[in-house]
Amino acid sequence: MQTVHTIAQLRATVDQWRGRRERVAFVPTMGNLHEGHLHLVKRAARAADRVVVSIFVNPTQFTEGEDFGTYPRTLKQDSLKLAESGVHLLFAPEASELYPFGAEHTTQVLVPGLSDILCGASRPGHFAGVATVVAKLFNAVRPHVAVFGEKDYQQLLVVRRMVADLCLPIEIIGLPTVREPDGLALSSRNGYLSTEERARAPGLYRALRWAGEVLVTAKRDYQALCAQASEMLVEGGLRPDYVSIRRADDLAEPQAADSRLIILAAAWLGQTRLIDNLPVTLKNPE
Ligand code: PAJ
Repeated sequence: MQTVHTIAQLRATVDQWRGRRERVAFVPTMGNLHEGHLHLVKRAARAADRVVVSIFVNPTQFTEGEDFGTYPRTLKQDSLKLAESGVHLLFAPEASELYPFGAEHTTQVLVPGLSDILCGASRPGHFAGVATVVAKLFNAVRPHVAVFGEKDYQQLLVVRRMVADLCLPIEIIGLPTVREPDGLALSSRNGYLSTEERARAPGLYRALRWAGEVLVTAKRDYQALCAQASEMLVEGGLRPDYVSIRRADDLAEPQAADSRLIILAAAWLGQTRLIDNLPVTLKNPE
């Protein structure tokens, strides 16, 4: 596996591949890699001849007071895992490489609407930071295909919308969430949890599963259902930020005829904010 830190080095290699008509797949990450990330890497390897992974803790997607400074940076271990997974190139830039005029003065990519709800409402500016860095990374890597996790479902939709709206010639693949045996979605932020918090954390997915079952079997009062799921979170020792049932395609409020839905939730455990979601298909919508 080749490791490069500059866009010039990255392009020199990718240009060679493209010159030989090889397909390039890309998996952007912030590092501290776990099985969820490696699952995306494996899918990328099936989608193309060459796999590029980036590791970059992107300052512009962290809002004021968030964990940018303490986010786990484990490049050595990550690099070993990627080499073992058959990745061809690791791109690990410094901030000055992606933000040559400074992160606070960067040209921005804004995806209105989708960026302002749910996690975007709680983390103003977060999705502008994500869309901006993903656009930069796409321009630096020039992949044919890029792979993202449904774990960050709203992010996946923001990226899909950006790619469609900016006419970027990149196929976006979304993959289901990889979980611990007890249901907790794998996340780099799980490492922040104390033993006691870790024991409570699966309560988030449990509440989603409960709401999902009620949805498919009976209930169509979405607001009441979300309120009950929030109550379950509180009882389980979590502090809910939101629980919401949305249309899976565009996160709009569901209409009676919609059958592809998604239940999304965010909740705090101490200082750690966890997110999760559960896609639900209704057999016979009203
Ligand atoms: P990061 O949190 O490192 O996640 C990188 C990719 O891994 C994302 O597409 C995310 O959805 C996926 N992922 C994380 N946990 C997963 C799990 N349990 N199962 C499946 N996929 C999972 O998301 C980011 O970084 C950043 O916002 C980024 C897109 C790199 C832009 O900075």
